Amino acid sequence: MNNEQAYWLPFTANRAFWKTPRVITGARGHYYTTDDGRQLLDGFSGLWSSGLGHCHPRIVEAVREQVGTLDYGMAFQVANDRAVALASEVAALAPAGLERVFFTNSGSESADTALKIALAYHRARGEGQRTRLIGRERGYHGVNFGGMSVGGIPGNRKVFSATLLPGTDHLRHTYSRADMAYSRGQPAWGAELADDLERLAALHDASNIAAVIVEPVAGSTGILVPPVGYLQRLREICDRYGILLIFDEVITAFGRVGAPFAAERFGVTPDLITTAKGLTNGVIPMGAVIVSEKIYQALMQGPDNAVELFHGYTYSGHPVAAAAGLATLQVYREEDIFARARALEPVFEEAIHALKGAPHVIDVRNFGLMGGIELEPCPGAPGARGLEVFLKCFEAGVVIRNGGDILQFSPFLDSTPDELARIFDTVREALGKVA
Ligand SMILES: Cc1ncc(COP(=O)(O)O)c(C=O)c1O
Repeated sequence: MNNEQAYWLPFTANRAFWKTPRVITGARGHYYTTDDGRQLLDGFSGLWSSGLGHCHPRIVEAVREQVGTLDYGMAFQVANDRAVALASEVAALAPAGLERVFFTNSGSESADTALKIALAYHRARGEGQRTRLIGRERGYHGVNFGGMSVGGIPGNRKVFSATLLPGTDHLRHTYSRADMAYSRGQPAWGAELADDLERLAALHDASNIAAVIVEPVAGSTGILVPPVGYLQRLREICDRYGILLIFDEVITAFGRVGAPFAAERFGVTPDLITTAKGLTNGVIPMGAVIVSEKIYQALMQGPDNAVELFHGYTYSGHPVAAAAGLATLQVYREEDIFARARALEPVFEEAIHALKGAPHVIDVRNFGLMGGIELEPCPGAPGARGLEVFLKCFEAGVVIRNGGDILQFSPFLDSTPDELARIFDTVREALGKVA
């Protein structure tokens, strides 16, 4: 082995990767620099994470300043001023009623934290039998055991099947090509799929169900947009049975759908929201779970000196991450980024749907600045065509993402129409070249 190959890449075909490595050494604005000096247009905002572009000067400056002021501070029984300030800003941005913020370091940790808070909440109220957790087919809630168990992407579950959490169930996913191919924004068909929750409530008795967790727009599985009325119906069923509703907004929060949160855009308020990525523009790892006041208050029990929730991370509320978060939120506000992303949505929608009819394309879908182009898989080699298109685009100077045979797009929140055109022109060319 070449020692330079010690790096085991996440979610990557490692052996193929090291035959033709793709290494970036710098980034600025909307472009990456590669180790051979090429400039690549980033069509994925990092990994859904960096909507303001790379090395934003305001965020870089805030991190520089903070790391020389308070590099780290004990996280248990001691707070730092940056985390306190960021929590109150996040709470102010969140839908009314979601007022408490628990910091994590990633989306996966946010998912597991939210599930644990849901269980603890019911127990604190004397309903400790409410332990069942419900996710959705094709859902992605990270790779830790809780998120993996409620997640619904088969490849992520297969190897770990025997060790997934007991007592989990899954709603059906919300995609039907026959009913919604090439829909723009929310598909009209499918609200009734939310009634799966009603069936599970009947099957298990609702009094045993703690929470349901969904991505408002499913991202990693290839952009599944919720049918009109679907999220509202989930909310109604949860209310009927005392089930907590968790929105995993690791991708959709902070502007990706042209609003601070998808909850606001869809007009549905969950009991907990999980976030990460755009919280710090991806500059320093950080996540947050935003929790309703009702849940928080239910947990504030026992003697004053007792720890109320036995959960937390060494780096919860890390001051350098929190400083990056504060600067990021300031830029969102001052540059009116969420409204700009919303205004860009029709331009993005036109650009992506122009690929209808291109070779191999069997569906195009979009919401906010999230888009998916689904390709017909190569017979006997699922994912091969999607990967080839990704590689061809990379060679041509544009970074997109493929999840199997679904090409995914997450452009910067302040993209220009020309950049969007370049991304989709490059994809069109690549589609013409792949077998
Ligand atoms: C909806 C959702 N939840 C959780 C995660 C996991 O986040 P992380 O990779 O930061 O653990 C992701 C990552 O893409 C995600 O899209």
